Amino acid sequence: MTDPKTAEPAAARPQCPARSEATRLSGLEYRQSPAELYRGLRRRHGPVAPILLDGDVPAWLVLGYREVRHVTSHDELFARDSRRWNAWPAIPADWPLLPFVGHQPSVLFTEGAEHQRRAGVLSDALGGVDQFELRTTCRRIADTLIDVFAGRGAADLKAAFAHPLPMLAAVQMCGMPPGGADTAGLAEDLRISLDAAEDDDPVAAFGRVRERIQTLVRAKRAAPGADVTSRMLGHPAGLAEEEIVQDLVSVIAAAQQPTANWIGNALRLMLTDDRFALDLTGGRLSIDQALTEVLWLDTPTQNFIGRWAVRDTQLGGRLIREGDCLVLGFAAANTDPRIWPQGHVGAAGNSAHLSFSHGEHRCPYPAPQLAEVIARSAIEALLERLPDVVLAVGPGELRWRPSVWMRGLTALPVRFTPAPSARIGSPG
Ligand code: HEM
Repeated sequence: MTDPKTAEPAAARPQCPARSEATRLSGLEYRQSPAELYRGLRRRHGPVAPILLDGDVPAWLVLGYREVRHVTSHDELFARDSRRWNAWPAIPADWPLLPFVGHQPSVLFTEGAEHQRRAGVLSDALGGVDQFELRTTCRRIADTLIDVFAGRGAADLKAAFAHPLPMLAAVQMCGMPPGGADTAGLAEDLRISLDAAEDDDPVAAFGRVRERIQTLVRAKRAAPGADVTSRMLGHPAGLAEEEIVQDLVSVIAAAQQPTANWIGNALRLMLTDDRFALDLTGGRLSIDQALTEVLWLDTPTQNFIGRWAVRDTQLGGRLIREGDCLVLGFAAANTDPRIWPQGHVGAAGNSAHLSFSHGEHRCPYPAPQLAEVIARSAIEALLERLPDVVLAVGPGELRWRPSVWMRGLTALPVRFTPAPSARIGSPG
């Protein structure tokens, strides 16, 4: 990656050929009704549209289902290592997307045989998670979180429930002792590093996350247990300590944000859509339906940055230059009218959506199943404990986060009849 400190002045910035017709992937329309924006882009540009990321940095948004599958299936043309980007000279050191686009030595940015080695270790280590035990753990975490607000009759389900639950489940999966001060601190620092408020310092918080994971890795080397970290340490691929630390941070971050927003978006659907309201008292079918429908229509991972062109090539009728950045538009691709000509998007039991991506870098097996166990257990527990939960504001008053990556609500205020505590201990 070019040192952002040596960035050229704006006048010398490389100009994307389509910059003059590019649309900003930000602002109120994008935040509140991205589907409208994608429809407009598709009409004007077809399946690949010129866009501007934060700071008016040019990139391509891949909107077509077939085109996203093509990009994610052809690593030799569209690769993951962001150091290829031809726009680095124009990226300032404080660019808000830098933490997740700038190259890091983690599994996320590796390619070819090196990626297979790193992703293989992750799949094997995650494959050792007992899904029944995970369900019990999630239920315990859910009950303890609900205990905090059950007696109040009102809560913001994003902050008090959907956000912390997958974080706590992920750190416990990785072997952090329940109830430890480290677990609570890690959860808080990850929140700050991924979703910083104005007075937070996300870089310092991220540094503390790495330190804590490093301490965990060393502790597990001395005393291994039945957890993801110990399985990574004992894996025959022989990953170095730094590689394990990097990849564990990726696992926890990758698990927390999408799963939290998956839970939040499914709860919003259940609380605002009559099809679900009728059966809200916990019918398993409606929970599963809501979770599947969200992955088609309102996916948490709405856009992913991304892939970088290895050489000049064509995509969706566009000339893509070597080093151009492609943003994977999962939300737009899932609702591509070319795959849903009748206009009814998605179907129960159809998991061909792209919400977990596709190809070599897709969300690694069995992470999607683990995420589903976490999400379903969370919603089951909530509806069982608070069966008459309703939105505390009108559906039109709900606000979406400005994130280019994630589709998720800033808050999900609800009210319900105050309920007794389950009194089963600490969530950590
Ligand atoms: C237990 C929960 C989860 C874990 C442990 C997990 C883990 C991971 C990891 C390690 C990666 C990096 C893969 C690589 O670069 O090779 C990844 C990528 C990804 N995950 Fe997950 N994830 C989880 C939940 C989810 C959920 C709920 C969603 C969406 C609904 C999701 C969507 C994605 C996407 C879109 C990518 C990007 C793949 C790409 O580069 O094409 N993940 N995940």
